[in-house]
Amino acid sequence: MTDKVYLNGEYLPLAEAKVSVLDRGFLFGDGIYEVIPAYSGRLFRLEDHVERLNNSLKGIRLPLNYSVADWQAIFQPLLEDGKDQSIYLQVTRGYAPKRDHGFPEQVVPTVFAMCSEIKPFPGKLTGIKAVTLDDNRWQLCNIKAITLLGNILLRQEALDRNSAEAILVKNGYVVEGAASNVFAVIDGELITPPKSNEILPGITRDVILELAQANNIPCKEDIIALEALQDASEIWVTSSTREIVPVVELDGKIVADGKPGPVWHAMDRLLQAYKKSLS
Ligand code: PDD
Repeated sequence: MTDKVYLNGEYLPLAEAKVSVLDRGFLFGDGIYEVIPAYSGRLFRLEDHVERLNNSLKGIRLPLNYSVADWQAIFQPLLEDGKDQSIYLQVTRGYAPKRDHGFPEQVVPTVFAMCSEIKPFPGKLTGIKAVTLDDNRWQLCNIKAITLLGNILLRQEALDRNSAEAILVKNGYVVEGAASNVFAVIDGELITPPKSNEILPGITRDVILELAQANNIPCKEDIIALEALQDASEIWVTSSTREIVPVVELDGKIVADGKPGPVWHAMDRLLQAYKKSLS
């Protein structure tokens, strides 16, 4: 992590950035966040991230009207030229004089941003193990809420089972990963579950669908039954910080031949070329 962070209009060394213990983010997890990659110092799909941020703010009824240019101006001083980094942005409902579930009368949001280096995810080239788990989270998963206990417990259960990700299943259908979206190649077609309140609308997910369409890779947004996932020839989990990660073992069973598949190789090449074309 770079030492300089942004907090409420100021750039400070990390150790000097402080918020009140009465901040509603600390007491209630009352806030939202974004993770925005920057390649060679340039923010990736910033407009899309800001649109999702605004949807999250609307979803928790927290007004904050910053434009894309305002956010760009806030983030840019945190970025270093030539590096692959990610911005973590968090907005909470701020300090309130007493702990009360209802919104305070006067809301001054806490706005915090920091920057970390993106290191290549070690499992990307060989593929990872994943387990399927029952999705026991809430019903507003489209909001990128900082209240992540559900996701954390599911990810940790996967880690405890020697797997890098949990693939969440609800009523027999695949939803998303604990911190990722899910794709599967079934009968030669790339499929990802449609957007709904049950998944976070991932920006990486959108980019993959766009690249598939532009390059004649058959793809669709559709429900994926657990049994169909178990028979898939490829499974991927996707996110801004890990990009596209092939799953080569699901619930202890090898996926296809246990190696990242041909559609993953093609899509990863397309994504790397797309990133380069923007930087
Ligand atoms: N998480 N679904 C969930 C539950 C996630 O937490 C994430 C990413 C995604 C993928 O979204 P995107 O492609 O926009 O990164 C889907 C981030 C990286 C995190 O919490 O750190």
